[in-house]
Amino acid sequence: MAEIRDAERLSIGKVLYTQDQIRERAKELGAQITKDYEGKQLVVLGMLKGAIPWMAELIKYIDLDVRIDFIAASSYGSGTTTTGVVKIKKDVEFDIYKKDVLIVEDIVDTGTTLAFMQKYLGERGPASVKICSMLDKPSRRTKQGAKVDYKGFTVDDLFIIGYGLDYDEKFRNLPYISYLEPGDVDKL
Ligand code: IMP
Ligand code: MG
Repeated sequence: MAEIRDAERLSIGKVLYTQDQIRERAKELGAQITKDYEGKQLVVLGMLKGAIPWMAELIKYIDLDVRIDFIAASSYGSGTTTTGVVKIKKDVEFDIYKKDVLIVEDIVDTGTTLAFMQKYLGERGPASVKICSMLDKPSRRTKQGAKVDYKGFTVDDLFIIGYGLDYDEKFRNLPYISYLEPGDVDKL
């Protein structure tokens, strides 16, 4: 039986990047990270909830002594714009003192969340804190210090959904990266 996804039923969601393209990029970045951290232990910290599909893909290609953990922060309400205030909803369980930490994000938009996380984790004395984000939306950056060390793809100023990214908690399960077009929200 042909599968009809919710997004398809609503006629939402042109494909920006396919699952194969995302996996290929994860493979390349995983190899780069493996090389850059050679001989080291790495704490890979996923930002809940959006980073889950990308992190699952990425860690398979990091050939190091890896520990994983998760952190949940929110700067968004239920709409499409940031509130600018970051709150920690679930903290790291590992002691990251003198550890190399790689934050894994779904997307870096204004950079508010990332700038906050770098400072927040930095206060615990890690050896290093770097960031691997599936997507980067540099045109929206307001926090200039928020630099993405490893980026999957650069996107235009679109509202992205799929592969972990949500609109009002919907579409995280789309197996590709897509975006909302004007009028799409009215169909929900
Ligand atoms: P920032 O703090 O503005 O950089 O935004 C970071 C977070 O906002 C991301 O981790 C996402 O959860 C969310 N976000 C930013 N842009 C988008 C988007 O285009 N689609 C869905 N979520 C987004
Ligand atoms: Mg997020």
